[in-house]
Amino acid sequence: MVNVFVTGATGFLGGELLVNLSKRKDINKIYCLIRAGSHKKADLRLEKIFACHADVLDLNRIIPVPGDLTQDDLTECLCSNKDLEDIQVVVHSAANTSFSPIYDTLIEQVNILGLEKILNWSKTLKKLETFLYVGTATICGKEITNRIIKEDESPDLKSTHLVKYTYTKMMGEIIIANHLPKEKVLIVRPSIIMGDSRPWIPRSYVIMWALASINFLRLVPVNANAQLDVIPVDYASAAIVQLLFSKRKYGVYHISAGGKSCTTLQKLSEVIESHFPGRPRFMFVDRELTREVKLWSRNKLNGNTRLNNFPEYLNYWHKEMNDPGDLRILMGGLDPYLSFIELGQVFDNTRLQEDCTIGLPEPAHEYIKRSVDYIENIDIFEDALDS
Ligand SMILES: NC(=O)c1ccc[n+]([C@@H]2O[C@H](COP(=O)([O-])OP(=O)(O)OC[C@H]3O[C@@H](n4cnc5c(N)ncnc54)[C@H](OP(=O)(O)O)[C@@H]3O)[C@@H](O)[C@H]2O)c1
Repeated sequence: MVNVFVTGATGFLGGELLVNLSKRKDINKIYCLIRAGSHKKADLRLEKIFACHADVLDLNRIIPVPGDLTQDDLTECLCSNKDLEDIQVVVHSAANTSFSPIYDTLIEQVNILGLEKILNWSKTLKKLETFLYVGTATICGKEITNRIIKEDESPDLKSTHLVKYTYTKMMGEIIIANHLPKEKVLIVRPSIIMGDSRPWIPRSYVIMWALASINFLRLVPVNANAQLDVIPVDYASAAIVQLLFSKRKYGVYHISAGGKSCTTLQKLSEVIESHFPGRPRFMFVDRELTREVKLWSRNKLNGNTRLNNFPEYLNYWHKEMNDPGDLRILMGGLDPYLSFIELGQVFDNTRLQEDCTIGLPEPAHEYIKRSVDYIENIDIFEDALDS
């Protein structure tokens, strides 16, 4: 029986990890670092996660530890908490996952300095067996395109990044190696987690927001045939938990769709299209048209531009948006997602398939069929500001 400490349990993936871990008979207690002003508020946040699964929180086994990764004295607080002395497994899933440059300073504070605080405490744990770091396969950066990428290709300090988030996650792996012995570290790198393969509403729709926005635009400046490595959150969580308790040959694993289960935006759009009658058909144009779309949103598009060859879409946008400026906000949020899509990165999952029995995930263009109605209810303009 092991005692586990989880960060990020209120998150999209972390919540699934917590619920999956709570089902295991070989786990004694699960302590969760939760941002909350009080124990009571922390309990309520945990209760909500279990309620999503029609499950009940057992506070004798799942114990919130109020705390924040940006808190100066976090390491000291954790070190002085006697209940945490017997932790054998740390699951560090918390991160600031925003792609928006306005959060760059906070992203570094949480993903680098916050990680260091957790590591400094973890090093003091006499019984520590495994430090599981939820990384991301996208730490490979933006130079590797249109091919299958293996675990050993990262982290690479020479890589360049589309967003601060992936850079900080890469640095996280390097920092961990400086703090803990290799045999105690397990790094899992999910690819892009979108939605849930079960027919229920996922608790977070960050990536779904991008798909909903693309579905709204219909004329989208991106290469829709680029391979896209997308997995559902239930698969990501089940794979990580299985790996944690498996006999492992490696220290780093992609949790990904890989060559056999990856998708494309073209395939996803074909599934979605028929569910939204009244919208123009999907039209994918080259990325350079982004500039013209942005000019249109500022009423600055000249007559002699390529975008004017698509009057059906311009009329549709006029009809759907009272203020063309809404499109500017939408494109601002969507831009990094379109850049990621264009990279055509697929993450090799041979290691996971070797060491686990979980099998391959269902391709996104299959499981998305069960979430199509949900896409319609996403408030794309409201959430563009947070993405
Ligand atoms: N989603 C993906 O597509 C994806 C893909 C690959 C890898 N990953 C990795 O998976 C992990 C989980 O991602 P996710 O999608 O679950 O993210 P998420 O939904 O944004 O959740 C982030 C979690 O981190 C916590 N957190 C953020 N700032 C914190 C702070 N200052 N102090 C304490 N906790 C803080 C959040 O707590 P609050 O609830 O209090 O905000 C939340 O529980 C991350 O490490 C991410 O890099 C995600």
